[in-house]
Amino acid sequence: MNELFLVANWKSHMTVSQAREWLDFMREHRADLEILEGKTIIICAPFTLLVFMKEYIEEHNLPLKLGAQDISQFDEGAYTGEINGKQLSELVEYVLIGHSERRQYLGEDYELLNKKVERAKTSGLMPIFCVQGNNTPVPEVIDFIAYEPVAAIGTGKPDDPEDADQVAKFYKEEKNIYYVLYGGSVEPDNIGSYRNKSFLNGFLVGGASLDAQKFLRIILES
Ligand code: PGA
Repeated sequence: MNELFLVANWKSHMTVSQAREWLDFMREHRADLEILEGKTIIICAPFTLLVFMKEYIEEHNLPLKLGAQDISQFDEGAYTGEINGKQLSELVEYVLIGHSERRQYLGEDYELLNKKVERAKTSGLMPIFCVQGNNTPVPEVIDFIAYEPVAAIGTGKPDDPEDADQVAKFYKEEKNIYYVLYGGSVEPDNIGSYRNKSFLNGFLVGGASLDAQKFLRIILES
């Protein structure tokens, strides 16, 4: 792995005060973060935290980037409750699209996800499109995906590193995807088994990213 992405997916967790504590910890350990070479750290936080986090990261000049966990399929307009690409582009560079939890609990299908991808692209955001296996369709414009097999998410049963690497190989060679992440029960204690896999470009970390100390270990040991 040359260029490495460590993406935290906070899902529907964290308040402003918890996010502040998390960032305070990273600030105390900034020396560890500053010496990282070729590692990009992205926090996909809930919408409610993004303004605060952007200001904190800028004020303290931390080497962290921000992502959103969703984007509206619509442009700005009369769409109550929606957060659109123009709004997001003031705050984040990345956006997760097609996470299995949104497919499962919000009924998001390919047609909808495709619209979201278009909105992200026209807003200048980098979509990280989540796939659950080799047969998940991926919009043509996508060049950054996260492979997150459902059986491995939040279960403590991570995918076999070799299997994850083979899925990454498939998407790179057959679908011309540029970056592939692995997500599913990544923890400080198992990150080592994914290190130096040829086709993976990093990790999407859910549960373990909520604990700043654990996430820092994952960053350092990846
Ligand atoms: P997890 O989530 O790390 O909590 O298993 C990963 C994911 O949602 O991709």
